[in-house]
Amino acid sequence: MAQNVSRQLQALPSIFETGCSIGDVAAGLVALMFVYRASVVVYRLFFSPLAKFPGPILAAATSWYEAFFDLWSQNFPDVLSDLHDVYGPIVRVSPTELSIRDAEYYNDLYVLGGKRRTNLIAGNRAGLGMSDAIATTVPHELHQLRRKAVENFFSKQSVTRLESRIHHEARSLDEKLLRYAGTGTIVRLDHAFSCVTGDLAGQFACGENPELLEGSEFNPECIAAMLPVAVLKAINPHVAGFRMFHLLSEGRIEKIKDEISKEKDHDEFHEKTSIFHHILRSDLPESEKDPARLKREAFALLAAGTITTAGTLTTITYFILANPEIEKRLRVELKRVTDCYPNQVPRWTDLEKIPYLTGCIKEGLRIARFMRRNPRISPDTDLKYKQWTIPKNTPVGMSICHMHMDPEVYPEPYKFIPERWIGDVDPRVNRNFVPFVKGSRNCLGLNLAWAEMYVVLGILFRPGGFKMSLDCDESDIVPIHDSDVGIPKADSRGLRVRFD
Ligand code: HEM
Repeated sequence: MAQNVSRQLQALPSIFETGCSIGDVAAGLVALMFVYRASVVVYRLFFSPLAKFPGPILAAATSWYEAFFDLWSQNFPDVLSDLHDVYGPIVRVSPTELSIRDAEYYNDLYVLGGKRRTNLIAGNRAGLGMSDAIATTVPHELHQLRRKAVENFFSKQSVTRLESRIHHEARSLDEKLLRYAGTGTIVRLDHAFSCVTGDLAGQFACGENPELLEGSEFNPECIAAMLPVAVLKAINPHVAGFRMFHLLSEGRIEKIKDEISKEKDHDEFHEKTSIFHHILRSDLPESEKDPARLKREAFALLAAGTITTAGTLTTITYFILANPEIEKRLRVELKRVTDCYPNQVPRWTDLEKIPYLTGCIKEGLRIARFMRRNPRISPDTDLKYKQWTIPKNTPVGMSICHMHMDPEVYPEPYKFIPERWIGDVDPRVNRNFVPFVKGSRNCLGLNLAWAEMYVVLGILFRPGGFKMSLDCDESDIVPIHDSDVGIPKADSRGLRVRFD
């Protein structure tokens, strides 16, 4: 067979009778491609407007430099830190992008819309099914339009009005954990936290509780969401994964549209109100209300609101349980606001007034190491950084973990020390704290995240609550890999907690 093909190829007439064989043409194309690639590299190294910026030659020549670390060891944020040690506060991290490590500059880069327009890199998080979502919208105006329509819903006032949802979820978690109390059972608390934050993200984003917490042994069963609906329906329409899938369905959006059309008057805070309700009631153009776009928005919100908050709760809980002195002090300080539990769930506003709890949450947000460098683009004006002029339309990023792990600002940065946030602190401690980024594209769900963390931790560590001990160590928890959010080692055992 192979011989036949080869004979037929040889028998082909030479191209246009010029004496050129297919082999010659292929070789010519390869040579052309090589010359093209080589001239792109020469341009990037010597003629690009970014050629003057310091950084490794390979990073300036090709984005495969970063891709290599992403694929090989997923530790590019640490590599980047080393690059800044070598090249200084501004580094060219790729042919088209710069990184700055200088906390003084943070507020100049991450600005509000009134100060400067901010674009994103096109294709950011492409392939994740989130295109057209607020978090991935590239042009400034469209992003602001989409964001403004839902911003109020995520305000502190609005989250406070809907706080009963968080209370209900935290109480359910507590009741579920009660069945393990005193049994010596080991529970994956990281899974339990994902269920809680997933349920809440579902309610805030889509107006329906996916009831992940009902999954057996806190198994979010998200994997089921990948199966076709018909198969899931046939297996069991009540599995948690199915409910998550249902939230993301266009049918759900049509149902909300129908509900809204029958509304007599708008109750902003009715039982099921959600981001979907806000968008569908808003005066956004109809194209923005297209079910396919809303489906992608819902997916982005569920992703943004679930893993992040659950990961932070996991980090905080680990460090509290790993340090008996911290646990003891926290429980004592929580007494005055949790005294009435279970009759009354402690309120976010009261929990916020416990500085030690706030210190624990801030330490968790600091150490959880959100690794990406959140690049921003100034489309209209060049940026000035020290002696450097950064041409407009250049993506510039500042890594959150560089801000959070600066040993000058946070001595022993890998240690969990809630006290560093209490009392008369060095102003740089607060200046460097940017877990939610800043500016016109900062985290939309930060109030929801704060409220969830306060209430869940307030209940979990109330005096007289569960007796818990760890069945894992720091290497199972602390993120070392960059997967957009930081994740621990591949064979992590997760947050395994024994209920003694
Ligand atoms: C501890 C919890 C959380 C952390 C640390 C966190 C962190 C962040 C960060 C760093 C960004 C900026 C991303 C970028 O520049 O590419 C972001 C954006 C965003 N977050 Fe969060 N987040 C958390 C929880 C939540 C929650 C609970 C929600 C909502 C359910 C949410 C919704 C969003 C959205 C919609 C954006 C995009 C905002 C925009 O582009 O205007 N996040 N978050």
